[in-house]
Amino acid sequence: AYQQKQNDYELMDSIARFYQQQLKVATDKETAIEYLKGRGLSGEIVKHFGMGYISDAWDGMMSAFAKNRDITQQLIDLGMAIQGDKNKPYDRFRGRIMFPIRDKRGRTLGFGGRVLGDGTPKYLNSPETRIYHKGQELYGLFEAKKANKQLTRLVVVEGYMDVVALAQHGVNYAVASLGTATTPEQLQTLFRTVKEVICCYDGDRAGRDAAWRAMDNALPLIRDGYSLKFVFLPDGEDPDSLIREQGQQAFENILDNAMPLSEFLLNNLSEQTDLNTNEGTSKLVELFQPYLNKLPESFLKQSIISSIANKFARGSEKRLEELRRHHSKEQ
Ligand code: UTP
Ligand code: MN
Ligand code: MN
Ligand code: MN
Ligand code: MN
Repeated sequence: AYQQKQNDYELMDSIARFYQQQLKVATDKETAIEYLKGRGLSGEIVKHFGMGYISDAWDGMMSAFAKNRDITQQLIDLGMAIQGDKNKPYDRFRGRIMFPIRDKRGRTLGFGGRVLGDGTPKYLNSPETRIYHKGQELYGLFEAKKANKQLTRLVVVEGYMDVVALAQHGVNYAVASLGTATTPEQLQTLFRTVKEVICCYDGDRAGRDAAWRAMDNALPLIRDGYSLKFVFLPDGEDPDSLIREQGQQAFENILDNAMPLSEFLLNNLSEQTDLNTNEGTSKLVELFQPYLNKLPESFLKQSIISSIANKFARGSEKRLEELRRHHSKEQ
């Protein structure tokens, strides 16, 4: 069926269907099915995300697809096959649960693959290719749009499994940023889709750093009516583990009480200075400056300036007056 050189997208979609099919026909399909069940996933949700499986062999996918030299080269170009030094090109993804990464039209651009047990790397991802640019895509956005006629908010999480587990428990508006940092392009896509974005990264150092970088990247996009909020999970938890322990209602309750950007900024910056001294309050104003500079003129920006004035910086009215003047001149 794959005699001619096909369109990249068609070929990737065919491979996604092949991986899905493997959950039904692979000789060791039970191992994969047990793994998915063990992660609390139903057949319905696995299907909604087009998840699949590939057994641990060198050429499971290649033997089905690489019918001629052109297609073999195409599979290498698309990141699906690896060209060894001497050997024939072989499957990049082996012995993994497969997550197709789709664009907003539903076309498969690449894959993430998780080992079934404790192997490394835990997740293997498609490399950048001529059709897949990971900083521009959001895993799960297509599926979230499909499940929701009217999306009002989106939750950004770290992992494929977080997205799928949240959907399994009824939170079908989560996306993953496919890397540690959420890029400016991804944030632009998010705010073109909804007005409320909630970052909910893992409760570890990496997760907290990711939140700060997302905030920094998002600042230029936060106009009146738009909001970026943050949820900080307990250390060691991620959205998947949390919703499995506590359920949809508890999780959505946490989302409803997410920390506004202004509070996140204020808390973090005030930790960096001693607000009991004049020097400290004056330093706070300085620390804020670069972030305020990135925010468009808005009610949020004015209210942040007021907060610094009222709550934190009583000792440095003069610097605040300058700050106010500086920022009202800008527009
Ligand atoms: P985590 O380490 O938090 O894994 O990585 P997870 O999603 O909770 O995985 P489970 O629950 O053990 O299955 C979060 C994300 O970081 C990327 C993947 O996108 C993953 O979903 N990652 C992680 C990799 O690309 N490679 C890795 O080896 C690990
Ligand atoms: Mn690129
Ligand atoms: Mn983590
Ligand atoms: Mn995690
Ligand atoms: Mn996890």
